[in-house]
Amino acid sequence: NTQYKTLNNGEKMPIIGIGTWQASDEEIETAIDAALEAGYRHIDTAPVYGNEQAIGRVLKRWLDAGKVKREELYIVTKLPPVSNRPHEVEPTIKKSLADLQLDYVDMYLIHTPFTLFINEDGSFKLDDEGLMVPDVSTNHAATWVEMEKLVANGLTKSIGVSNFDQEQVARLLKNCKIRPANNQIEHHVYLQQRELVDFCKAEGVVVTAYSPLGSKGIAKFNAGAGLVRDLPDLMDIPEVKEIAAAHGKTPAQVLLRWIIDTGVVAIPKSINPERLKQNLNVFDFKLTDEEVAKLLALDKDLRVCDFAFFHGVERHPEFRFKNQYTN
Ligand code: A2P
Repeated sequence: NTQYKTLNNGEKMPIIGIGTWQASDEEIETAIDAALEAGYRHIDTAPVYGNEQAIGRVLKRWLDAGKVKREELYIVTKLPPVSNRPHEVEPTIKKSLADLQLDYVDMYLIHTPFTLFINEDGSFKLDDEGLMVPDVSTNHAATWVEMEKLVANGLTKSIGVSNFDQEQVARLLKNCKIRPANNQIEHHVYLQQRELVDFCKAEGVVVTAYSPLGSKGIAKFNAGAGLVRDLPDLMDIPEVKEIAAAHGKTPAQVLLRWIIDTGVVAIPKSINPERLKQNLNVFDFKLTDEEVAKLLALDKDLRVCDFAFFHGVERHPEFRFKNQYTN
């Protein structure tokens, strides 16, 4: 009884998927197993997360055992920032497909609007201040031509973008044959990005919300990268807790229900079987207009996925994440 959102090409994307960033191979294998068991069919990954092979192993087991059919699965992966160049599109998706042990993915996204350079040893090229340098020759329309070929070649059913702002989406819409079907962005009660969401909706581009629960786990990642930043816990916001108590639901379920009600797809990440089930079980209650108003009023324009090492991109406004540097 999966619930779907229909894309502008008629394909159907499950409204809730499992996000897979920041989990070890072992954690991810257990989590994907538990997610499929719980009824998840939409899995969001990317080469940048380093877990496509682990996910591929689980998918192969499920497909070989006949426990799920390929057409029931909805697999999303992405063209990494270091490969965001026309000639790298096809070889890069082919590497993902080999790792995932699949013939096609359901959605292929350009992971970021900017392109990053790497050194010969695979490390990121940094400027004198230790910031990543974007490739100013990046041309979304040129990359998009190669993305469109992937649909023609059957390597993906749909194509889209991620972390694109309104201007970037609008420019692509004017310069494409196949319209992007999806824009995956950070979206939650503290970073609502209403203008961007409404624009995408009006243009028939389905929005997927990453970090829908505020990505608590990012604290660990930031600490590992030497970044110390206090981040709010969205599940601890008094209004969210109050609404949850009124419905006998958890704060996470309220945060997800709110996203779904705004017509947006959500990909909460969890490696815990109980929480995975919880996050899928959000269709049996409804927020009142008053509750929705309370949640809308929480917007703080606060981006959680704000990494200092991306700030070199800031000098090139054409690739900037909107609102990235506001907190
Ligand atoms: P865990 O994987 O241990 O469940 P986001 O999807 O916004 O990135 O948030 C993911 C973070 O939220 C992870 O730290 C995850 O931890 C935690 N999380 C996921 N689902 C729930 C839930 N239902 N209740 C509480 N925490 C959750």
